[in-house]
Amino acid sequence: MTQDELKAAVADAAIKEIEPHLEKDTVLGIGTGSTANLFIDRLGPLRDRFKGTVASSEASAKRLQDLGIEVFELNSVGSIPFYIDGADEVNAQLHMIKGGGAALTREKIVAACAERFICIADGSKEVARLGNFPLPVEVIPMARSYVARELVKLGADPVYRQGVVTDNGNQIIDCFDFMIDDPVAMEARINAIVGVVTNGLFASRGADVLLLGKADGVERTALR
Ligand code: 5RP
Repeated sequence: MTQDELKAAVADAAIKEIEPHLEKDTVLGIGTGSTANLFIDRLGPLRDRFKGTVASSEASAKRLQDLGIEVFELNSVGSIPFYIDGADEVNAQLHMIKGGGAALTREKIVAACAERFICIADGSKEVARLGNFPLPVEVIPMARSYVARELVKLGADPVYRQGVVTDNGNQIIDCFDFMIDDPVAMEARINAIVGVVTNGLFASRGADVLLLGKADGVERTALR
């Protein structure tokens, strides 16, 4: 199976996971990226079965709206039973690196509001130790050089993602050569640097369910 077929398989599996729980007043949290896009496409035909969504990026919001699915401001929404999103890396504790698509901050905010985070990923995203994928850090533009110097002190090789402006008007630094032994501690440590908006470690609030696409089928891991 190709990577795209594995992504499609986990998008199908996520639909099966949430479909029995859809009610007229359900608002879903929706992630960003190619795997999330496949999930969004499969939500289209179900649009009359639930109230709408909160999107983690302008790109996902547009894709949802193009399918006739309502997108609400997070501040106007009460409970969000499920947040469905991809990952750049995921470990056995369902800690993740996210933000390859620069949407990490809104992803983290919507995930924080959700009762259950369902991570959908092809098998290539599974790792024993996080860090092979460069860890994204969203920064306030004027703080970029300062934050980069602080990241060097933590052992990272920070590289400014040229030409990228986040949906929040900020910039992204990617941390190369930065293997992470304690994702919960490192997430907090980086977030404590002045000028950091957030970083792409999703560990203090990891996923609750992982749907991982493998050649022999979708593997489901549920921690909660
Ligand atoms: C975007 C993300 C994505 O979830 C992550 O980059 C995975 O993307 P894809 O599904 O395209 O592999 O965090 O900011």
